[in-house]
Amino acid sequence: CGIVGYIGNNDTKDVLLNGLEKLEYRGYDSAGIATLNPEGLHLFKVKGRIAALRDKVDVTVQSTMGIGHTRWATHGEPSEDNAHPHQSSTGRFTLVHNGVIENYYEVREQYLTDVELKSETDTEIVVQLIEVLYGQTNDVLVAFRQAMSILKGSYAIALIDQDNPDAIYVAKNKSPLLVGLGEGFNLVASDAMATLKETEKYLEIEDKEVVIVKREAVEIQKLDGTIVDRKPYVAEIDAADTEKGTYAHFMLKEIDEQPIVMRKIIQKYQDEHGEIQLEDDVRQAMTQADRIYIIAAGTSYHAGLVGKQFIEKLAQVPVEVHISSEFSYNMPLLSEKPLFVFISQSGETADSRSVLVKTKALGHKALTITNVPGSTLSREADYTLHLHAGPEIAVASTKAYTAQIAVLALLAVGTAKAKCLHLHFDPLKELAIVASAMESLTDQKEAFEQLAKDLFSTTRNAFFIGRGNDYFVVQEAALKLKEISYIQAEGFAGGELKHGTIALIEDDTPVVAISTQENVNLSIRGNVQEVVARGAKAAIVSMKGLEKDSDAFVLPKVHELLTPLVSVIPMQLLSYYAALHRDCDVDKPRNLAKSVTVE
Ligand code: G6P
Repeated sequence: CGIVGYIGNNDTKDVLLNGLEKLEYRGYDSAGIATLNPEGLHLFKVKGRIAALRDKVDVTVQSTMGIGHTRWATHGEPSEDNAHPHQSSTGRFTLVHNGVIENYYEVREQYLTDVELKSETDTEIVVQLIEVLYGQTNDVLVAFRQAMSILKGSYAIALIDQDNPDAIYVAKNKSPLLVGLGEGFNLVASDAMATLKETEKYLEIEDKEVVIVKREAVEIQKLDGTIVDRKPYVAEIDAADTEKGTYAHFMLKEIDEQPIVMRKIIQKYQDEHGEIQLEDDVRQAMTQADRIYIIAAGTSYHAGLVGKQFIEKLAQVPVEVHISSEFSYNMPLLSEKPLFVFISQSGETADSRSVLVKTKALGHKALTITNVPGSTLSREADYTLHLHAGPEIAVASTKAYTAQIAVLALLAVGTAKAKCLHLHFDPLKELAIVASAMESLTDQKEAFEQLAKDLFSTTRNAFFIGRGNDYFVVQEAALKLKEISYIQAEGFAGGELKHGTIALIEDDTPVVAISTQENVNLSIRGNVQEVVARGAKAAIVSMKGLEKDSDAFVLPKVHELLTPLVSVIPMQLLSYYAALHRDCDVDKPRNLAKSVTVE
């Protein structure tokens, strides 16, 4: 979910609605805003997108303070009733919340037995609790702080009080939240991207802090009331990067940006002698570790699978790759000197953060590889490597995946060098070749548009197969296709197909095979024959030097370790066009959110 708040001297509707639009990547199943003016509180909520909310908001209502929310449902279905903001029984307090309150039942049983609840959300519990505590203390701030000490779980909260139009009360624990600083106004946002148009100056808020945001002042307090002094920072995002420009979809824009991102990474990670340079502390952590544990979710997990190859083959350190939500409660036996590497585009994924909290408590060091250096996972880890991919807005991740792989390659090379291992691999030269290869692929979109039409126009399911490095990419290919086109898709190891999955092959079942690895070229082609013999409609995407005339597409040649960086581009484009042909909402697929800040 995403939250935004404004308090100033101008009308707030547009700031709130524009901000929420920028936060839709965090969820978009329902939305709402509440504004306060001398006539009272004005609440607008809808099931659906911000565009629908914009239509509902009464343009004649003027107000200089308010809060808003875009939701990704956890407790309670997406509906107008369950949409935020939520109000207390008397209507005095109104609140938006991102996160999950874990002691929801306990709070209800202990404090709210006399309160009639209007929604099924854990959020309503919070606003009702504040009202009950206010009844006991007669002081809003004290009641707010008390409520925050009672609540367990994750929250970013913004509260307004109908009797006081001069403050927004804000609190945070585990979920992201920033306060934006302006001249004569101040803001609250889950992500600076929401309010960049208004200000570049932000205050980070730490867990278990509350903030009183007024027009001309901002005060941060701990839960015991102690005042905290914090210096603001300047958000380094270019507002233009968050716009689609001439593109129909962010996803296509982000696919096209991949060559530029590769070049940016090359530039950012080399020193003045053209050598890969890791910061001293990262180098030290990598060389001292006896085993690396890569922790990630979704697409970032798939990048981790490729990263393991680099670190093991180039730097000769054993690596395990784990899905964060599994690792969290089923920790494997750890080595003596583990190093945890968190891969996360957003740096906010709650599943990954939960692992970071646990491994930190065990005293282990952590490195975060992220696109958002100020994010929670970045701040809480010991070291950070930046992806330099620019804001990724489409829910389906593309440029962050390739950036993650490139940075992991450089991390492996930097580690190998620090260990004085001799490498026959010049990463900067090879990545430059990759960037050009990517460009030639994004220049041939029509080929993938046609192939997507042939393969995926009407099918209910699809299979992707590969071996070695290609196996990692087909898993990502399947995820991409299913998340945006809703075609049931699976990525399999070519050799594993015959052990079960081949039973699903029927006439015209689409099977896409990737073949970029010489040592398995013949065996993956053998697997394609097996499915074709059973009626499948197969398409092979091979690499120059390994191709056959019948291949659907031949990729330009790149170093065999780096093939995922190019073989994934056709897969991204195939998914994009499949979704387009099927009239799906490419950038905002159903049921998903880009940044999932709940476990
Ligand atoms: C969500 C997104 C995925 C993403 C995953 C991990 O599920 O929809 O695209 O791969 O989270 O996100 P992260 O920001 O940690 O890389």
